[in-house]
Amino acid sequence: MSYNLLKGKRGVIFGALNEMSIAWKVAERAVEEGAVITLTNTPMAVRMGTINDLAEKLKTEVIPCDATSVEDLTTVFERSQELLGGKIDFVLHSIGMSPNVRKKRTYDDLDYDMLSKTLDISAVSFHKMIQCAKKLDAINEYGSIVALSYVASQRTFFGYNDMADAKSLLESIARSFGYIYGRERNVRINTVSQSPTQTTAGSGVKGMDHLMDFSDKMSPLGNANADECADYCITLFSDLTRKVTMQNLFHDGGFSSMGMSLRAMNQYSKGIEEFIDENGKIIYG
Ligand SMILES: NC(=O)c1ccc[n+]([C@@H]2O[C@H](COP(=O)([O-])OP(=O)(O)OC[C@H]3O[C@@H](n4cnc5c(N)ncnc54)[C@H](O)[C@@H]3O)[C@@H](O)[C@H]2O)c1
Repeated sequence: MSYNLLKGKRGVIFGALNEMSIAWKVAERAVEEGAVITLTNTPMAVRMGTINDLAEKLKTEVIPCDATSVEDLTTVFERSQELLGGKIDFVLHSIGMSPNVRKKRTYDDLDYDMLSKTLDISAVSFHKMIQCAKKLDAINEYGSIVALSYVASQRTFFGYNDMADAKSLLESIARSFGYIYGRERNVRINTVSQSPTQTTAGSGVKGMDHLMDFSDKMSPLGNANADECADYCITLFSDLTRKVTMQNLFHDGGFSSMGMSLRAMNQYSKGIEEFIDENGKIIYG
């Protein structure tokens, strides 16, 4: 159902890889709500994923961009303004990747070059994106910039590894830049802390199925899915949230306020799986 919440607005959506991607759902909802958008992802993701199908469906263009490259980001904002016919009203940062997680390096055995890449791709890219847009004066007054985060930024979660540090930095950038961009141009910057969601990036998290089940059992409203996350992002892009900025907003069915639920307690009493190595030591991933 459309409420025309984004009628006349122009947006840039980073991070749609395939149909499961949260960014994919946000792109579809944004257009349904009356926005015109551009899509962008890395050249590799454009080749490996199905973003071109989404572009065709939404009658838009994919602008290839590695979000760690200021040059590429500049191209995205210049080209998007050209294509959409004016300044941008909303931006979604839906980007995350950890080479340490991919290579199964545990948190007490990190490769530091890989850690730098994790931070650059998953967090510093958000700063680069905002700084680049601001220097180009590419965002309209009262524009809205949103990045996706996870509760592991603030609480320790087994297996989330160096992505936890990246998400902490991401949320901090939203606050630090939110102050400057808000004061100068009334642009708001927020992060949405989403439930675990079955996507390509999500499946890289250790024990994802169990994590999703635990999180679902802990949350009074259950896990929020990608479509519901898209709905929430739309409200943040709309004019209905013009005074919301510098926030990390939980979109998690209530998970982040819970300590223990009856459903999780019942499950726990049925048995727990231990992660131990051949010497009987617990593996802290
Ligand atoms: N899936 C979950 O459980 C979950 C939960 C909370 C938050 N998030 C966050 O949501 C966001 C989107 O992830 P998703 O779950 O939709 O998975 P996804 O794999 O569909 O999206 C991740 C995207 O990041 C892109 N990306 C990687 N490196 C890049 C780079 N250098 N430049 C530009 N783009 C790059 C990928 O190509 C991909 O499109 C991420 O920030 C993720 O951490 C996911």
